[in-house]
Amino acid sequence: MIKLGIIGCGAIGTSIATAVDRGEVKNCQLVSVFDIDKKQADKLLSKLSARPKVAKTFEEFLKIDSDLIAECASQQALKQFAERVLKSGRDMQVMSEGAFLDNEFSKRIMKVVSETGKKMHLPSGAIGGLDVMKAAARSGLTNVKLVTRKPPDSLGGKSKRVKTVFEGSAEEAVRLLPRNINIAATLSLAGIGGKKTKVKVISDPTIKHIIHRLEVSGKFGRMTLTLYNLPHPDNPKTSALAVYSAIVTLQQLCSPDVRIGT
Ligand SMILES: NC(=O)c1ccc[n+]([C@@H]2O[C@H](COP(=O)([O-])OP(=O)(O)OC[C@H]3O[C@@H](n4cnc5c(N)ncnc54)[C@H](O)[C@@H]3O)[C@@H](O)[C@H]2O)c1
Repeated sequence: MIKLGIIGCGAIGTSIATAVDRGEVKNCQLVSVFDIDKKQADKLLSKLSARPKVAKTFEEFLKIDSDLIAECASQQALKQFAERVLKSGRDMQVMSEGAFLDNEFSKRIMKVVSETGKKMHLPSGAIGGLDVMKAAARSGLTNVKLVTRKPPDSLGGKSKRVKTVFEGSAEEAVRLLPRNINIAATLSLAGIGGKKTKVKVISDPTIKHIIHRLEVSGKFGRMTLTLYNLPHPDNPKTSALAVYSAIVTLQQLCSPDVRIGT
């Protein structure tokens, strides 16, 4: 049985917790939760039949015995806590992947991972095609471009007209829109890095879906992928697909299984 702790009790943390609580993740028991906003943790607990411990501080959270920590909070939280989680002997599953385009953080974590032998798992989240990119990158990629269209509330805005809100590198995108475009980091890590991966983000009041159009080319050939993601009912900034991806990754980590497409 894998003992799971969750940092961040919002849309993703709560969906993971309820999936574990319903027995959808075999060999997994939720033992602890932590959120800077205690009300969020209490709200999460009210949806469960099990009674994981609620930590008031990160130090208290680390003292509760667990094997695997799921980060579902923010880039800042990941930067703040990841090193101590790994050094305490736990593996991690993380959602705020944008943090990895901060060079200093990324280097520090790579070092800790190799020193401790602990693992950090990055689910595909709200995007797809990473299997293709990782394989194709072996022969060199020449172009990776992501064009994302979001309804204004998914960007935390209210604009009534179609507007480009960002155009530049993935590295800049995750820095300037830290709550919105973690997938730019995931794509960068699977492909050609945060400086060369191109990103455009458009606010579009005429759409209901979050639409990601990905173009990748290289010596392998060419891929285009268009995803029409529905927003998560509890958080319009998060795609429902990101939650499913987090739960499937957790299922894989907790059970010996045949792994498809990884
Ligand atoms: N990789 C992907 O495809 C993908 C997709 C969607 C969201 N995300 C990221 O996943 C994370 C969680 O998303 P969500 O939709 O559940 O967000 P949310 O806003 O619904 O919930 C986040 C929770 O984390 C808590 N939190 C924030 N900072 C914290 C800290 N320093 N310590 C402890 N708790 C903290 C907040 O109080 C909140 O309850 C965000 O960083 C988001 O950008 C990634």
